[in-house]
Amino acid sequence: MINIFRIEVSLLLLTRLCVTSYTTKVPVVLWHGMGDSCCFSYSLGKVKSVLEENIPGVYVKSIRIGTNNIEDVENSFFKSVNEQIEQVCQELSMDEKLKHGYNAIGFSQGAQFLRAVAQKCGGPQMQNLISLGGQHQGVYGLPNCASIKHYFCDMIRRMLHYAAYTKYVQNNLVQAQFWHDPNREEEYRKRSTFLSDINNELQINETYKRNLKKLKNLVLVKFDHDQMVQPAISEWFGFYKPGQAVEIETLHNSKLYIEDRLGLKEMDANGKLHFISLDSKHLQFDIEWFIEAIINKFLV
Ligand SMILES: *[C@@H]1O[C@H](CO)[C@@H](O)[C@H](O)[C@H]1NC(C)=O
Repeated sequence: MINIFRIEVSLLLLTRLCVTSYTTKVPVVLWHGMGDSCCFSYSLGKVKSVLEENIPGVYVKSIRIGTNNIEDVENSFFKSVNEQIEQVCQELSMDEKLKHGYNAIGFSQGAQFLRAVAQKCGGPQMQNLISLGGQHQGVYGLPNCASIKHYFCDMIRRMLHYAAYTKYVQNNLVQAQFWHDPNREEEYRKRSTFLSDINNELQINETYKRNLKKLKNLVLVKFDHDQMVQPAISEWFGFYKPGQAVEIETLHNSKLYIEDRLGLKEMDANGKLHFISLDSKHLQFDIEWFIEAIINKFLV
């Protein structure tokens, strides 16, 4: 009798465990890049289905800024980044399915935006942040518009070179808000309305630091033959040495790291930073790599 009872109890427990583990797959939040949207079937729509196939039962939310996909694309060029972050913070905190936490994958500029979400939002806890080609030290050049099929792209390149740090451009052009001119470091620090703030350039915001350190992992994927991001090392938090645009300074040699202004040094010491490089162009990776190196390692 007792034995049968025990078996029943353990069966019950086992069933419960299975159901629980099925329903508590950590949800995934995606944020797309410039000129893209949440849901195009050839880009993030595809990523979403790969995640769903490989993490059965997972809830995937792909961020859309605006009421439709076209607005979403336009906003990836022309909406204040800080306003976008605020909106996303609200949306994530109101989503019941995320309340126990979530993992995040950012594509290109979506990666630095999700880092800002991690640092600024009080909402549900982001656990792992995967940055695919994110420009964490900004860009100094958008060398190639060819892969962005959008007529704004060339106009934007010109505007960035001539007027990136004017108030109007900072407030209205997304890419200006992470434009980092190494010949004008001082101006960048003071006038960049988004990137220099989240990188604690002028002052150290302890909230940013504390929140970033709560991540379990920050995975930085760099595309070695990146034709979109200049310099590609920005994808690993590196940049040009101040005052010129040839020589590179790696994260480990930067003031950001040495003074640990953002908590990255501590995260590195705790094994939370992952530097991955791919021998390919911007955001070009194959699905097998994505499943093995990202999903199986960090998301299941
Ligand atoms: C630090 O960041 C938080 C979140 O964005 C903000 O509320 C706070 O005012 C900032 N603190 C300082 C000193 O700027």
